[in-house]
Amino acid sequence: MIKTELNAGFASLGGGYLFSETARRIRAFEAENPGKKVIRLGIGDVTLPLGKTVVDAMLRASAEMGERGTFRGYCPEAGYGFLRSAVARYYARRGVDVRPEEIFISDGAKSDCAAVPSLFGAAKVYIPDPVYPVYLDTNLLAGRETVSIPALPEDGFLPGPERCGGGPAVIYLCSPDNPTGAAYGREGLAAWVVHAINTGSVIIYDAAYEAYITEPGVPHTIYEIPGAKSCAVEINSLSKSAGFTGTRCGWSVFPRELGELGKMWARRQAASFNGVSYIVQRAAEAALSPAGLAESAKMAEYYLSNARLISRLLDEKGIFHTGGVNSPYIWMRCPDGCGSWEFFDRMLTSAGVAGTPGAGFGKYGEGFFRLTAFSAREDTETAVARLREFL
Ligand code: MLT
Repeated sequence: MIKTELNAGFASLGGGYLFSETARRIRAFEAENPGKKVIRLGIGDVTLPLGKTVVDAMLRASAEMGERGTFRGYCPEAGYGFLRSAVARYYARRGVDVRPEEIFISDGAKSDCAAVPSLFGAAKVYIPDPVYPVYLDTNLLAGRETVSIPALPEDGFLPGPERCGGGPAVIYLCSPDNPTGAAYGREGLAAWVVHAINTGSVIIYDAAYEAYITEPGVPHTIYEIPGAKSCAVEINSLSKSAGFTGTRCGWSVFPRELGELGKMWARRQAASFNGVSYIVQRAAEAALSPAGLAESAKMAEYYLSNARLISRLLDEKGIFHTGGVNSPYIWMRCPDGCGSWEFFDRMLTSAGVAGTPGAGFGKYGEGFFRLTAFSAREDTETAVARLREFL
């Protein structure tokens, strides 16, 4: 029997990981109802295949790996120069100057969102609520002190820094937000940057959904805001933009204005991460090329049209909802004051449609429900038809 003290953080997690729990309930329903096809509008997993530009790059890279002269072993710890430069060019398209050496290639946003706070000591970690559950879960596991920043409907789910205390802290922001789809404008984001600078805080800015921004004036990167380079680490990923949820590639930016943080992150990565495969890094480089970006833009438009179908139904039913404009997620109020897990179960069992209960994104998500637009068009249409009956 193991007598070594166990990590007490697990006790604070309160149940299984959100998407494991929803998957478990869907599997149980399917096992009991073998003839019924469940339409999945739950976890934000893409359904369109990788673009041709990306696949061709993977095929070429795979062939290189099979030849003595072009085979590669371990990759440079921060990623290959060709991909770091491609990411820098991606920022340059927005008029943002980020140098390749400030960019660290990763296997996606989730791991970096979890690991960046390890650069700090006993700082308070401010986390919006509701938000991507990884921020809270991983900080609880690390035994850090977490404080929630309520994101309320009356603020358009975009809380400002007045909800934070005055001292130096780690602050997560996700924009466009998962799950509410709300996106900060320049002014809202600038308020956070000013707060971070004034308090000596660091912002961990999760930009994983920026490719879905359609409204002009909504920043695609926090570095569009003056001063942000001195207070923000930005994390992004190709999961949702180029369909890399199964392929895995993303990056974090540590601008040199953050002083030693970039060096610390390089040291941390060297100690605990062996990089992303050459084949995937070539795929990512292709995804960021003009042809790859054009393919991604088409995918985003496809998913956003799904979102419009869902939004129209909710409008028709008079149900309050946000998102779907700068985001592949629709955030709706559960009808009739229903609890979000109860609504999940009712919708699954009565309509055969799965979503994600708002409570899984935090206490302030209770009473709300998330639907994703990442399904195939036919499935989204079937779901909308079923929900028209159900709601
Ligand atoms: C989500 O559904 O929120 C995301 O797909 C989960 C993730 O990106 O890990």
